[in-house]
Amino acid sequence: MGPNLSTVISEKDLQKRIKEMGETLTDKFKNTSVLAVCVLKGSFIFFADLIRQIECDMNCEFLCMSSYGSLAHSSGEVKLIMDLNSSVQGRHVLLVEDIIDTGLTMNYLQKVLEIRKPKSVTTVTLLHKPDAKKVDCKIDLVGFKIPNDFVVGYGLDYQNQYRHLPYIARLENLN
Ligand code: IMP
Ligand code: MG
Repeated sequence: MGPNLSTVISEKDLQKRIKEMGETLTDKFKNTSVLAVCVLKGSFIFFADLIRQIECDMNCEFLCMSSYGSLAHSSGEVKLIMDLNSSVQGRHVLLVEDIIDTGLTMNYLQKVLEIRKPKSVTTVTLLHKPDAKKVDCKIDLVGFKIPNDFVVGYGLDYQNQYRHLPYIARLENLN
């Protein structure tokens, strides 16, 4: 039997929450120049929707993180496979993640960025699984807290599938 999808967050609820998050970030960054950083691959859809809800002076940058392996759990080892094209020194950085699970990816990224002396780092994640936490990381704004289940859609994948779904779904019957 193949995996089953059951909706966890509808397209409508996603868009409503992202609009609110954009308003919160607009309040924070109104008169600021921001370097918005998309953490590929999973964040690409959330990033595209979120930045269009933020009114401020903004540059966009992309980096790509990967954890080894492609199973439905973190391997515990993360690597930076594509770095930013511009310096973060002295910049207000807005780091945009799809999901914080164990926290390992975000913990690593925050360390990598901190060394480069940004003026500030604000971390935003669409999804957060508080029960999966293994290491600390600073999270400033969360879209939705979710239980410790594997989810896909809206950029998130299972073996590079399901990223195109406009909603978040739980993947059931995974081996
Ligand atoms: P962490 O390092 O354990 O916090 O996991 C971060 C990365 O693992 C995310 O950026 C995702 O790529 C992936 N990940 C964690 N949980 C899920 C999930 O439920 N669905 C899809 N990808 C996930
Ligand atoms: Mg990811």
